[in-house]
Amino acid sequence: MSKKLHLIYFSPSGSTEKIVRTIASSISDLPVEVHDLLTPSSRKKKYTFGPDDIVIMGSMTAGKLFTLSDELFACLEAHDTPFIGVITFGNGYYGIALNEMLERAKKSGFKVTALGAFVARHSMDTSIAEGRPDEHDKEIMRDFGRRTYAKIQNGDYDLHELPKTNWSSWELGNKVIAYREEHPDEAYALPNECKAKEISDKCIKCGNCVRHCPVNAIDIDAKKFDVEKCIGCWGCINRCPAHAISSTSKQVADIMKSFGEASTKRLEPEIFM
Ligand SMILES: Cc1cc2nc3c(=O)[nH]c(=O)nc-3n(C[C@H](O)[C@H](O)[C@H](O)COP(=O)(O)O)c2cc1C
Ligand code: SF4
Ligand code: SF4
Repeated sequence: MSKKLHLIYFSPSGSTEKIVRTIASSISDLPVEVHDLLTPSSRKKKYTFGPDDIVIMGSMTAGKLFTLSDELFACLEAHDTPFIGVITFGNGYYGIALNEMLERAKKSGFKVTALGAFVARHSMDTSIAEGRPDEHDKEIMRDFGRRTYAKIQNGDYDLHELPKTNWSSWELGNKVIAYREEHPDEAYALPNECKAKEISDKCIKCGNCVRHCPVNAIDIDAKKFDVEKCIGCWGCINRCPAHAISSTSKQVADIMKSFGEASTKRLEPEIFM
């Protein structure tokens, strides 16, 4: 098997993809293969990696790995492959997500070499961390890529600093994180009332939301969402070119108001190598 740099991501609204690609841009001497795990069909395949490959994998967080993380890791089979793990978060907190990614990656046969948590605009309220990642973030990402690649080239695949639980400046957020620490095996699930959405007359029937829904939950002809299937990833809302989809959940509006008020301080990326 020839040596390759593999980019893997689950990125409903697109920020995680951009961040993984920015990190990868500083590793320019390897051929790149991209595995976008957004669609159900992409997660039915099996991806196998050898010890000469390098994997950069990114996922968004909701204080832990996002829904479908079992499915994401079930697709991956590694044989001592160096792994650069990336979590993106909306300037609030990433809770136990990096620790979870570390454990899952090890179980899939990876050698976890470096982990990073990076701030991106909040997909549920894009006025939070608007404009992130910015040029300062991107420089940190490229430096992270360069230093990790040098570490791998020196034969050092080990993670010398372990991530800790990342706490929040938001009281409610800390209750959620404490719960997740106590129930690490419970999958993340958004309550159904938080998934209520509507499609307005601005819809131009382009099909972009349908193509990017990770769970085929959208019937665009009927302008309906299957809330049982929907995982609340906010991808359809952020990818609609006509801004025709919006959340109608009062609970989400209240949560995001309180989250936004508590998360005004700019947070910086955090790196563990
Ligand atoms: C349902 C949901 C829950 C989220 N929970 C958190 C959170 O707990 N903390 C945080 O800082 N950001 C949170 N976010 C924001 C996303 O993690 C962040 O915007 C991420 O960059 C989105 O990645 P994407 O653009 O690749 O989809 C949440 C987003 C969604 C849709
Ligand atoms: S319908 Fe639900 S799962 Fe599908 S893209 Fe929209 S928010 Fe994500
Ligand atoms: S992405 Fe927006 S405009 Fe396109 S089909 Fe979906 S709702 Fe309609």
